[in-house]
Amino acid sequence: MSGPGYDMFAVTAHGLADLCAAELAGLGIAGRVETGGVAWSGSASSLYRANLELRTASRVIARVGEFGARGFAELERRAAKLPWQDFLSAGSEATLRVTCRKSKLYHAGAVAERVARTLAGVGVTVPDAVTGDDDDDAHSADIRGQLIIVRFMRDVCTISVDSSGALLHQRGYRQALAKAPLRETIAAAMLLASGWRGDSPLIDPLCGSGTIPIEAALLARSIAPGIARADLTPRRFAFESWPHFERASLDDVVRDARSRVRPARARIVAADRDAGAVAASRANAERAGVAADIEFRRVQLSDLEPAAGGGHVVTNPPYGVRVGDRRNLRELYAMLGDTIRSRRPGWEVTMLAADDALAVATGLPLTELLATRNGGIPVRLLTTACARTHTQADGVYQRLHNQEGTV
Ligand SMILES: C[S@@+](CC[C@H](N)C(=O)[O-])C[C@H]1O[C@@H](n2cnc3c(N)ncnc32)[C@H](O)[C@@H]1O
Repeated sequence: MSGPGYDMFAVTAHGLADLCAAELAGLGIAGRVETGGVAWSGSASSLYRANLELRTASRVIARVGEFGARGFAELERRAAKLPWQDFLSAGSEATLRVTCRKSKLYHAGAVAERVARTLAGVGVTVPDAVTGDDDDDAHSADIRGQLIIVRFMRDVCTISVDSSGALLHQRGYRQALAKAPLRETIAAAMLLASGWRGDSPLIDPLCGSGTIPIEAALLARSIAPGIARADLTPRRFAFESWPHFERASLDDVVRDARSRVRPARARIVAADRDAGAVAASRANAERAGVAADIEFRRVQLSDLEPAAGGGHVVTNPPYGVRVGDRRNLRELYAMLGDTIRSRRPGWEVTMLAADDALAVATGLPLTELLATRNGGIPVRLLTTACARTHTQADGVYQRLHNQEGTV
């Protein structure tokens, strides 16, 4: 292995770690699924690649160190010995996110103060310490400079640095928003788990701002999320500010990702009854460089005619918690089932549902692929495609990658 090695962890939303591990396997990285994500050890290049290519991870963090500490003096002494110079330059800024559980040092604010003092010793200022839960994006708007994550659990202190910067779901393309947009990482997880292989028709009849069709086009064309823009330029990552950042190695990773981009092989339809949503989808798809791969249609669900021959409907209907009149929702869900079941039996439906009664209203034989949260709401990913397990979803992902010749 050339260059520094890292212990890394891809943080995922609840329920997505298995899919993320499958994605890593597709990149040739053997990860270990743990609570909240996937761990692995490897080179700087694997860190860069994971950041650029993972569709389901929220962020990738790298471990600075781990030690036991039951008093503040011990904490400061041990924290001072960590290799901060590998991640931070003198004169830079950092934000601390501290959580303490089941530990003698239970006061997150006091722990943050001691770690900030240690950082001051290496010339790093900490304007703000953020304490609170481990949620991957809690307080993300407050982060200034390098995010440092300090976690006390049973008197063991683990300190990690964020390598991603802006959360990875922020691909950059989604600037036009419709109501209740779906997180890009969840849209990608829905597609990976759905059994869609990128080479058959796909429709989102309730596309809103177009997240599912755009993520589908990126997947079908093998465009890494980190270069999801018309000119395939990469987004910026926090690791680019690290003192040992290897520009040439990132350039190689980007070149490799670009070399795998291929033409579309599937007809992808983004439909919605709302003209603003269709316009937002198109503008977002243009920014992502995939507008030519998607057919945009302003149409009521009831008027949608899926083509003969079959394909996949992957969709995120309104839940009734945030948008939509609940009384009409049952009708909408029933229509979703009817549009597909009675008219086009060759189509599979994969959908998010927050409410079992509404899922039942579709009349579709749905089974659960995974459970996660969208915008804080617990949701289940359901499918008509014969009961798939994560392992089968992993297989789908592997097949996608095999077709791309990357493994
Ligand atoms: C929860 S939003 C979809 C959000 C989308 N996944 C995104 O990321 O932006 C549901 C969408 O369904 C659309 N919709 C609701 N009822 C409809 C109907 N009967 N026919 C077509 N579209 C409908 C709404 O206009 C809305 O854009």
